[in-house]
Amino acid sequence: ALAEQAKRVAAEFEFDKDHVQKAVKEFLREMDEGLQKEGTELSQIPTYVTAVPNGTEKGLYMAVDLGGTNFRVCSIQLHGNTTFSLTQSKVAIPRELMVAQTSKELFSFLAKQIENFLKQHHEEHYSSTIKRRETGGQVKEEEIFNLGFTFSFPVQQIGINKGLLMRWTKGFDIADAIGKDVCALLQAEIDELHLPVRVAALVNDTVGTLMARSYTSPGKTGTLLGAIFGTGTNGAYVEKLDKVTKLTQSKDGGIYDKSTGEMIVNTEWGSFDNSLRTLPNTPYDIELDEKSVNPGIQMFEKRVSGMFLGEILRLALVGLLKDPKVPLFRDENSADNDVHSTTQIHQDSPLYKQWGIDTSFLSICAGDTSAGWRMLRQTLDKDYGISAVSAEDAEAVREIAAAVGRRAARLSAVAIAAIVITSGRLDTASSTSGEVSEDDVIDIGVDGSLVEFYPGFEDHVRQALREVEEIGEQGEKRVRIGIAKDGSGVGAALIALVAGSVLEETG
Ligand code: BG6
Ligand code: GLC
Repeated sequence: ALAEQAKRVAAEFEFDKDHVQKAVKEFLREMDEGLQKEGTELSQIPTYVTAVPNGTEKGLYMAVDLGGTNFRVCSIQLHGNTTFSLTQSKVAIPRELMVAQTSKELFSFLAKQIENFLKQHHEEHYSSTIKRRETGGQVKEEEIFNLGFTFSFPVQQIGINKGLLMRWTKGFDIADAIGKDVCALLQAEIDELHLPVRVAALVNDTVGTLMARSYTSPGKTGTLLGAIFGTGTNGAYVEKLDKVTKLTQSKDGGIYDKSTGEMIVNTEWGSFDNSLRTLPNTPYDIELDEKSVNPGIQMFEKRVSGMFLGEILRLALVGLLKDPKVPLFRDENSADNDVHSTTQIHQDSPLYKQWGIDTSFLSICAGDTSAGWRMLRQTLDKDYGISAVSAEDAEAVREIAAAVGRRAARLSAVAIAAIVITSGRLDTASSTSGEVSEDDVIDIGVDGSLVEFYPGFEDHVRQALREVEEIGEQGEKRVRIGIAKDGSGVGAALIALVAGSVLEETG
């Protein structure tokens, strides 16, 4: 009976070929709409970045990165031959800063990390400039580090190093930052510490990923899409400039180089289909959303990304446990009918707490190939206080977890498919032999804990891509997906490079 119940719940997460096809159509519609006006579901934010790198860029830059699991500070030496060296430090972002009373708390923490990094890795540079400042001298232009600021939240960009925070996502919630220029907030804290650092570029992690991928694997046509499947999910892609009409037709569109005829657009696809025209909506999705800090928004992200998948699974399991007839985690020796006392679950188990199941648990479920699911049962015991789990219990958990993961990957394919279709790159093919020639590759750079660690994520994505009519088996083969690990730091440096020269020219 347990196996049947598990199948029933798993089936609630099915997202079949027709669903995929409908969602792709809706995605294409929302992309178009977002390019034309403000306030749409897909934000389609113009980034002012109008070219992708070709691997010859050179110089020493800094970058900081806020918005995933960690806050990172790095300096990057670009060697100009598609390679780079990176020095970096990483700290987990303290939870209390994500929901701090004031944005100053968060940004002064960031500046402090930059100071520590300079002291540790660029000591000479740091102390000589600080000393000169203290004795009333000026820091020379060539001593200032241009810094790329990867800030992975929806920002209304109004210039290459200027952008107003539209809304927080991924559990961050600091009210006074909304509407503020996040570069100015960071620069103010940097200046308070007298650091020789100028915030030269504001970059979404997806844009950074796209840039990094283009630098390290410059193909004939360049990388099309940079996507994150991590704590959150989002993508940025190369769009034809004349389609970004909300920018090109607006009077105060800002300064940018028009010569390439292209611009990178940050879709903010986490908010795709907030009105649920095509997204699946199980009782677990509904409950997760209602109890989140931002109900009604980031509806795609809440079904796809790492921050949420564990919670979806948890809600599904708790749902099963509520039915006393379902023999999940039952203690067969107990005669009591009360749910808690008849299960093997410790009363303090994270299973009973919101966000109690981490998404890495889904990866464990999908990756456990041991006999009788020994790894999975150990994890349930050690991390979740569920003892004496039977092989049937483990099998049921696995089945539901797999369904949640598979749905996430198939939804991810919707976004990728729509962007591949929009690009028009499928319409041209130099090779007719069925073999994919280098010229026909459609290159995609990805990063984030989910694609990196969830076993089989890409396979599920590819399966769904093949099911999309406009893509099919032939098209799917042309899509190359490559990890740009920690790429957004390099990407931010690349944008700081371009931006640095623009800032110098315009004063
Ligand atoms: C990191 C990038 O590698 O991946 C970040 O440098 C990005 O910019 C992050 O936000 C996404 O992954 P996760 O899993 O940390 O959200
Ligand atoms: C969230 C943010 C977005 C970011 C993504 C991945 O969706 O809103 O800006 O790119 O997470 O980190």
